[in-house]
Amino acid sequence: MTAKTAALSVDGNSVDLKIKQGTIGPSVVDIAPLYKDTGMFTFDPGFTSTASCESQITYIDGDEGILLYRGYPIEQLAEHGDFLETCYLLLEGKLPTAQEKSDFDYRVTRHTMVHEQLLRFFHGFRRDAHPMSIMVASVGALSAFYHDSTDINDPKQRMIASMRMIAKVPTLAALAYKYHVGQPFVYPQNDLDYTSNFLQMCFAVPCEEYKVNPVLSRALDRIFILHADHEQNASTSTVRLAGSSGANPFACIAAGIACLWGPAHGGANEAALKMLEEIGTVDRIPEFIARAKDKNDPFRLMGFGHRVYKNYDPRAKIMQKTTHEVLNELGIKDDPLLEVAMELERIALSDEYFIEKKLYPNIDFYSGITLKAMGFPTAMFTVLFALARTTGWIAQWKEMIEDPAQKIGRPRQLYTGAPRRDYVNINQR
Ligand code: SDX
Repeated sequence: MTAKTAALSVDGNSVDLKIKQGTIGPSVVDIAPLYKDTGMFTFDPGFTSTASCESQITYIDGDEGILLYRGYPIEQLAEHGDFLETCYLLLEGKLPTAQEKSDFDYRVTRHTMVHEQLLRFFHGFRRDAHPMSIMVASVGALSAFYHDSTDINDPKQRMIASMRMIAKVPTLAALAYKYHVGQPFVYPQNDLDYTSNFLQMCFAVPCEEYKVNPVLSRALDRIFILHADHEQNASTSTVRLAGSSGANPFACIAAGIACLWGPAHGGANEAALKMLEEIGTVDRIPEFIARAKDKNDPFRLMGFGHRVYKNYDPRAKIMQKTTHEVLNELGIKDDPLLEVAMELERIALSDEYFIEKKLYPNIDFYSGITLKAMGFPTAMFTVLFALARTTGWIAQWKEMIEDPAQKIGRPRQLYTGAPRRDYVNINQR
């Protein structure tokens, strides 16, 4: 069957560009030869119509609100699996057998401690440092402690570095939280599952025994599954670009954490909760909807809209269900923030502006209410997003490194600056 092509005609010259078809989803026009054949670049700031790579990890259909991890629907993984099973699936491309799952859990559990000297690292921060600033720094600092797993060309070292990050990022996140609230650090407990261990490292104190609430642990584990990966989003693209230069995996993940922090991306969960608190009561919602629609007002509804989803984010639906589950378990009735959130969603989804622009709640809209109810301060919300997304970043980084066609990412530009001109001495300016 002859390969399909797209003909591009420039100044009377026609160039045939190959069309590549994936398993599902949009095809791509391979423009790699474009500059060589026409002397021109494509132009797509924000990459709204650009596929940066070939990948087999995650598939999103934004119009239908579909999210698949290695082909499995997010709804089924969130319902039936646990977060470490999803980590195995994203990394290995298949669901683990019972033996593979038990071995994987055992290996992750025994990498959860960090080098004791790293604990002193935290004391260098101002005590009011934002936990995300501590995460960017401490994950990057792992490359200073684990030199035996920074050679990206050695598959064994790549796997050790991957396991270390999946295992140690929750410990670093809990240390950042403890430093933020001024409580003593708590060590991992090997007899607890991944998410229960994280909860005890965050909320246990030396003065009394800490008992993990299994309902909250299951809910947080499901929240981690929802946040694990999401195709070529901004932070994943950052990790891939950093990795394409051969930088060590710890530095690449630190770059991803830095990008995730932005309020347009993972920082939206913190911003969305602050927005709900600022709205405060249902009667103030119209004022904020009007601001979100006002072209002259930079205010946006945080937790709403998405580059890819032009339908309801499937993760937001599961998130909303989890919110009700957690509030019920904690006996929180009529949470004012949830009341504002649900009324805001109802009004927005019936408003012409949001309908026309296809703006729906995304994963960050409800997550903050749940995490706040669990006892996390707002400043920790994006840290929890980063904890879960570390696995997706690693899976994508690994796929890029193992791609034989991989080369350093180096985009070009449309130059609109000054043409060549000669230097003028200062006394002649
Ligand atoms: C995440 O990419 C991913 O996969 C990310 C993520 C992941 O798992 O990795 O899903 C996680 O980052 C979710 C998104 C969290 N961010 C927010 O909730 C912040 C609020 N949302 C917006 O900033 C915005 O919707 C973005 C950044 C998410 C998407 O922006 P786009 O795709 O660049 O869309 P756009 O800015 O061009 O908006 C299209 C129109 C614009 O109006 P016009 O200029 O066409 O007149 O919709 C408007 C925007 O002004 N718009 C909003 C809006 N989002 C878009 N108006 C009001 N409130 C909003 N939230």
